[in-house]
Amino acid sequence: MSSRSHLFSPLTVGAVPTPNRIWMAPLTRSRAGQPGDVPTELNARYYAQRASAGLIVSEATQISREGQGYAWTPGIYTDAQEAGWRRVVEAVHHAGGRIALQLWHVGRVSHPLLQEGGQPPVGASPIRAEKTECFVVLPDGTPAQVPVEAPRELSQPEIRRIVGEYAAAALRARRAGFDLVEIHGANGYLLNQFLDLRANQRRDEYGGSLPNRARFLLEVVDAAAEAVGRERIGVRLSPNGVFSDMSVEGSLETSLYVAAELDRRKIAYLHIAEPDWAGGSPLTEEERGALRRAFSAVLTFCGNYTAARAEAAIAAGVADAIAFGKLFLANPDLPERFRRQAPLNAPDPSTFYGGGEKGYTDYPSLDAVGREAQRGANIRK
Ligand code: PHB
Repeated sequence: MSSRSHLFSPLTVGAVPTPNRIWMAPLTRSRAGQPGDVPTELNARYYAQRASAGLIVSEATQISREGQGYAWTPGIYTDAQEAGWRRVVEAVHHAGGRIALQLWHVGRVSHPLLQEGGQPPVGASPIRAEKTECFVVLPDGTPAQVPVEAPRELSQPEIRRIVGEYAAAALRARRAGFDLVEIHGANGYLLNQFLDLRANQRRDEYGGSLPNRARFLLEVVDAAAEAVGRERIGVRLSPNGVFSDMSVEGSLETSLYVAAELDRRKIAYLHIAEPDWAGGSPLTEEERGALRRAFSAVLTFCGNYTAARAEAAIAAGVADAIAFGKLFLANPDLPERFRRQAPLNAPDPSTFYGGGEKGYTDYPSLDAVGREAQRGANIRK
């Protein structure tokens, strides 16, 4: 039997002590309460079921209406959303867990149907993301996947406004009780659009050179750190990721630059989304090693890891923790299953987005399976 001792060793993530290195990855589930994109009791149950994760990273959560790119994703910019999230956090804490809120602005990955007054979405430059869809509710009430529309370019006062919205969202998250906040700089959304060589064609101090392309993300990190403390901030990046029309060119170099800047800022963690479900070539061991050398605090990788590969990455010192998406979605007690090397439930893609309890809070834990088996045995007696 192979050892899982590294996966189950404690880890301090900034201000937060955690009991293991098995994280739940952020997963869009599109089940926020309507109207208002408010987290519900059902959402609280889903997260509380997964409280044995070393750290839960919440689904991506928009910091403003402008930052929304898909119907039914939760927000963190109204009092009702903050109150809804407080109930989620209380349920997770009550179940013994820890949770970070992922702060999200989709930028150009949106559509006038999702925007205030039918406005176009916003971006670094007026360049539409090719082969990219968002999820809207059409005027006749039917939900639909539609191609994103061309954004308009953000002005500098608007960039300053959005930096302030990130800080306000971080404060709301802390007021709701979240242990940490994760700034979403990955997967082709707004901050990634500024980092990207193709999506960002600006000629001001937010475009061109590496320091210029990284400026917006780092301003957001600094403002959020000012609001809630650097020891409560994580950042997610996706080097070599091509989701939502990001370019591979310069991507790793950009991530290494940002990682070094984040290292200087002494934030709690850096979370690397490896290319997996969204295509793109996998990171090499050398690339992971370069990220490790650039960032000295907690470094977490995510993307199609098995327990064995996760254990090996931590044992080798490349990763401090590994995040699991689909496996955690389908296995609320994933750490216990890893510990016992128990079989895993298979995720059902037809219930990933939208809907209710089915495919959300009804994946069985081992205990539930055990109780069922016990009942079966009792009946047969
Ligand atoms: C999605 O909802 O499709 C989504 C959200 C956040 C990500 C990636 C994908 O980082």
